Amino acid sequence: MCGIVGAVAKNNVVPVLLEGLLRLEYRGYDSAGLVVANDGLHRLRTTGRVAELGKLANEQETLGETGIAHTRWATHGVPSERNAHPHYSGRISKIAVVHNGIIENYEIMREQLQAEGFEFVSDTDTEVIAHLIAFNLQQIPDLLEAVCASISKLQGAYAIAVMEEARPGRIIAARNGAPLLLGLGDTGNYAASDASALLQVTKNMIYLEEGDVAELTSDGYRIVSCLNGKIDKEITRAVHKSNLTSEAINLGPYAHFMQKEIFEQPGAVANTLEMVFNAQSISPRLFGNDAEKILSQIDSILILACGTSYHAGLVASYWLETVAGLPCNVEIASEYRYRDPIAGPNTLVVGISQSGETADTLAALNYAQSLGHQHSLSICNVAESALIRQTNLRFLTRAGPEIGVASTKAFTTQLASLLLLTVTLAKMRNKLSGERENEMIAALRHLPAALQLALQVEPQVKAWAEKFAEKNHALFLGRGLHYPIAMEGALKLKEISYIHAEAYAAGELKHGPLALVDKDMPVVAIAPNDVLLSKLKSNLQEVHARGGELYVFADADSHIQQSEGVHIIRLAEHAGLLSPILHTIPLQMLAYHVALQKGTDVDKPRNLAKSVTVE
Ligand code: G6P
Repeated sequence: MCGIVGAVAKNNVVPVLLEGLLRLEYRGYDSAGLVVANDGLHRLRTTGRVAELGKLANEQETLGETGIAHTRWATHGVPSERNAHPHYSGRISKIAVVHNGIIENYEIMREQLQAEGFEFVSDTDTEVIAHLIAFNLQQIPDLLEAVCASISKLQGAYAIAVMEEARPGRIIAARNGAPLLLGLGDTGNYAASDASALLQVTKNMIYLEEGDVAELTSDGYRIVSCLNGKIDKEITRAVHKSNLTSEAINLGPYAHFMQKEIFEQPGAVANTLEMVFNAQSISPRLFGNDAEKILSQIDSILILACGTSYHAGLVASYWLETVAGLPCNVEIASEYRYRDPIAGPNTLVVGISQSGETADTLAALNYAQSLGHQHSLSICNVAESALIRQTNLRFLTRAGPEIGVASTKAFTTQLASLLLLTVTLAKMRNKLSGERENEMIAALRHLPAALQLALQVEPQVKAWAEKFAEKNHALFLGRGLHYPIAMEGALKLKEISYIHAEAYAAGELKHGPLALVDKDMPVVAIAPNDVLLSKLKSNLQEVHARGGELYVFADADSHIQQSEGVHIIRLAEHAGLLSPILHTIPLQMLAYHVALQKGTDVDKPRNLAKSVTVE
């Protein structure tokens, strides 16, 4: 988590650093800071947001042609000015460091550096990097070489940017396990955690690879690899033209990114399924050149993911078992990586992640591969991410940048992709007749329009939200395919409105949670007109009989009647296998409107970050 920006140019870079940080705030927003070189290093730090940092820069008329900046999601040390980046060190020459990631051996390094006389003024692991580089600079007077020497001693995942007071006009950036890219502009060169931060100055980007160390000046750049603490060789990396548009990363007419992203879902799903819209039939090649060979060998699926992406995996497990007849396990990545699971030689391991940089998901996939799993597929929204590079097969969700911390369009595009995977596998395994395949393709083609329709229930959801805003707890119920959707609805509500929300498979209600039901506990039920509807209705009766207030999302043909204590919002007619995707929409809207009622920070909920690059 945390966002990094670095800039070295022939003009003042403070506006570039601030704008870049604003774009990266989704990565963390506990504190913000920057340092620029202008007759010495000038550092500004605040426990406020980037806007606050901007005010400080304005008041203090901070200017400089070289600078690094950071927006933090605290891991080591509370959010405070003292712990905010950039961190300083230096005896011979003062240096400043910004860092994203975690240094796992920081305690030992800290002791060693303290023994060398370095004084620590923060509780962060980052300060170790600053002192270590300063220590090495005493023997190796070149910053690039000193960074090479230093990173050989660091364990963990990181991206860093470093600058030096004595030789301004130069930034050193290094990547190992956390994202970092370079931007090549007309008047300067830049580094950042993602492309959106640099779109303001350039579209020409270089995605650094693990182990790359880059040196940036206003006139040029070079990339090297390091071996045993020394520069090993010069590296050439391709320059990519980013196809990100400023429209994709700006709010436009919306009040929040989450709102924008909810409403972008029809388009995001249409983009993700574009190849299907033009095809007569579904081909395994959608998942990569080797997909036909690999997918024809598999006999089971293992899905690894976290958070919302994990919920997408849970829905997919129903589809894969029912439609493709494949056994499917879905595991929370942070749990899987510490178990002793049995690897099947013909299991396809599927990593699902919006960002492609979630540390637990990457580590779990790595672990699965180390156990002998040979076949892997990533479903991911970021083309240049670590996850995409870690698997044999890949499918890109084309949701566009998702900036709101609570995931919305990434989830529905993941579901659309997973349904496509299901249909592909079902077809390859002769579980799908030509007629059924055509029906499925037609349903997928219709999905964007169906999502558009689902968005129309917003006024009704908004009215419900007023009632939820006064509550402290909520239960979400679903069955079968819609149980994970209930989980996702509960997660959305707790993430952004801070209302405690739990999801239960509706049949489990009587085994415990029913004890919680009273007039103060709203119960949200996802009640599409599927084979489990009559069972679900009995569960709802159990709630009603105990004075619980029911908020039911039903299909137009669900035959559930509104009555005292039973509120109903109807979507369109039952959408079959696509129903979980459509039923997600009103749940996202419910969370959004409850958060608005409560006045919480919708896009940047407390304590969270969008991209969790630490364990
Ligand atoms: C964080 C985000 C969630 C997201 C989860 C997994 O917790 O706040 O919205 O679902 O990470 O992220 P990923 O990028 O792997 O899908």
